[in-house]
Parts: sequence; C-alpha cells; structure tokens
Amino acid sequence: MGLLLPQFGIFAQGTGAHYFLELDVRWDVTPAELLDSFRRLRAPEVSAGGINLVIAFGSDLWRSLPGSRFPESLANFREIMGVDGPSAPATQHDVWLWISGSSPDVAWEHARAATELVRDVANVASEQAGFSYRGSRDITGFIDGTANPPTLEAADVALVPPGEPGEGGSFVLVQRWVHDLRAFSQLPVEEQERVIGRTKGESVELSDDLKPPSAHIARVTIEVEGAELEIVRRSVPFGSVEEHGLYFVGFSADPSRFARMLSRMFGTSGDGIRDRLTDFSRPVSGAFYFAPSQNALRELAGSE
Ligand code: HEM
Repeated sequence: MGLLLPQFGIFAQGTGAHYFLELDVRWDVTPAELLDSFRRLRAPEVSAGGINLVIAFGSDLWRSLPGSRFPESLANFREIMGVDGPSAPATQHDVWLWISGSSPDVAWEHARAATELVRDVANVASEQAGFSYRGSRDITGFIDGTANPPTLEAADVALVPPGEPGEGGSFVLVQRWVHDLRAFSQLPVEEQERVIGRTKGESVELSDDLKPPSAHIARVTIEVEGAELEIVRRSVPFGSVEEHGLYFVGFSADPSRFARMLSRMFGTSGDGIRDRLTDFSRPVSGAFYFAPSQNALRELAGSE
C-alpha cells in the first residue's frame, strides 16, 4: 500500500457553496452492483473542476461491503432524549456525500451528477444546500470554528491513526439543526454571548465568572487527563427565510467524543445541565458515518 491519504475534502478551505446528500441503498442490490455503481463517482463530472467530494458510509452498509476493514466503534446514531424537552432524533442513512465548491450552481450541478450516477442502486433520502455566511459565522451572527484545531493538527484530531482498523479514515457526525432565530435575536447581545460562551463580534471566550455552566462552549469543552477532547467542525449554515439553521458536520478519529459532547449538550451526562443553545435550536436529523481513507476507497473500488 502506498502513502496513506485521507479524503482531502474534509480539510478543504475556501469553499462558499455546499451540497449535502444522504442516500439509502436499495435492499435488492448486491455489494458488487453497489461498488460498480459507486465507482462512477470518480468520473470528472462529479469530482473535477474545483469541487471537493467527501463520501462516507453508515455502519450497516460499510460492514456489508466485502473487504472493508471497518472500525468496530462505527455504529448507527441513536436518539438522545434530553432533560426537560429537547431531544436529538436519529435519522440514519447508508451514504453521506458532501460536495463543496466556489459557487452554488457548480455544487448543485455536481450533486445532481452524483445522484444520477448511482441512481440504479441508491435513492436520495435527504438533500440540503448550504452557504458560507459572513465569512465563517453561524446565522446567529457568532463565528463558528474559532476553537477548531489549526490546519496542521486537524489531521491528528480527525483521522484514525495508522495501524488501526480504518486508518486514515474519519468518523462523521451529521445533524441538521433548525434555529429559532426570532427568539434568539430577541435576547440582548450580552445574553446571546452567555448562551454561546464567547463574544459576538470577535469570538473572545468569556471569563469563568461570566460564562454560565450551561454555555455552549462550557458543555462541549471536555478534559480527559488534562487534555481536551477535540473534533474538527465543518458545519455550514443553510436555509430559507422560513426554516434555517446550521448543518452540523463534525469529524473525529474517535466517535466517543461526539457522544460525550452530545450527552453534555442534552443534559444526560450526570450533572443534568443542558446546553442553553438547545433552547434556541433543535436537531431535526442525526446520523453517524465513516469517511474511509482514499486508499480504502481505492481498494474497495478495485484497480480497474
Ligand atoms: C445549533 C448547533 C450549533 C451551533 C450554532 C454551534 C455554534 C458554536 C459556536 C458559535 C462556537 C464557538 C466558536 C468556536 O469555537 O467555533 C462553538 C464551539 C464548539 N462547538 Fe458548537 N455549535 C452547534 C452544535 C455543536 C454540536 C452538536 C457539537 C458537538 C457534538 C459542537 C461542538 C463544539 C465544540 C467542540 C466547540 C469548541 C469548544 C471549545 O473548545 O471552545 N457544537 N459552537
């Protein structure tokens, strides 16, 4: 095997237009037919012309593919029943595609081409276009990504280390969150800042005496033996004037980090504190996927 290469789209920067697809593979399709069909995604109309394509598989499908060396910890997303109200639904599908590029027409065109190429084996279960908002802000107006690991460390955070099952691949958490922007924007800015735990303008972390334990960043900052659990977030704003929010995308070398963060957000982690953000935004979808290394994808697809 040559050099271990991740799917580069996971880390690609500077793309303002996004298209997310979830697909379900038809039950009567054999693994050979499936691989034949997905091999077509390497065609230039899908993955050339300044477009990034990331492909990831759900646990059931990945385990059914002959020769896939899957990490045991890959599992389907399970519903989380939060304390006093908010919950996180599970809407697991088989395949997740993330297409990103410089403009919406190109992203849409490539997303459509991808679905046409695999239409004989898989149906579209969900689709969502997304956009960059005012640089890298969430539509609440807060900068999203401040505490993301810097580029050079991102691979260590997101990728399964060499030698382990699934090496060079990445676990993905995908959740479509719908905001109640009207309610959030009625809060005074200082209160909004206490919801997030950072200032709105410059994304400066609030001091410990100003940051409530229910602040978003207080919930998702988890220390284990002196080291912070880290993930790489690539979330994207989406929506119309009536329904809008954040298409949350997280990558990690280890899926248990997502589970721990979510359980602290939904108040099921022991201290019973729920993330204040869940008063203003609710997930309407939730799934776990695995984005294999390029080497693993090539092996699956055969040399051809
Ligand atoms: C409505 C959905 C969400 C919104 C609007 C949101 C927004 C934000 C914002 C504004 C920040 C602060 C700036 C930054 O460091 O990026 C942040 C930080 C963070 N978020 Fe979220 N987030 C959402 C959901 C989630 C979920 C579902 C997770 C994990 C499962 C998560 C994990 C994190 C982490 C790890 C940080 C960095 C914490 C730190 O080290 O300071 N977020 N988020």
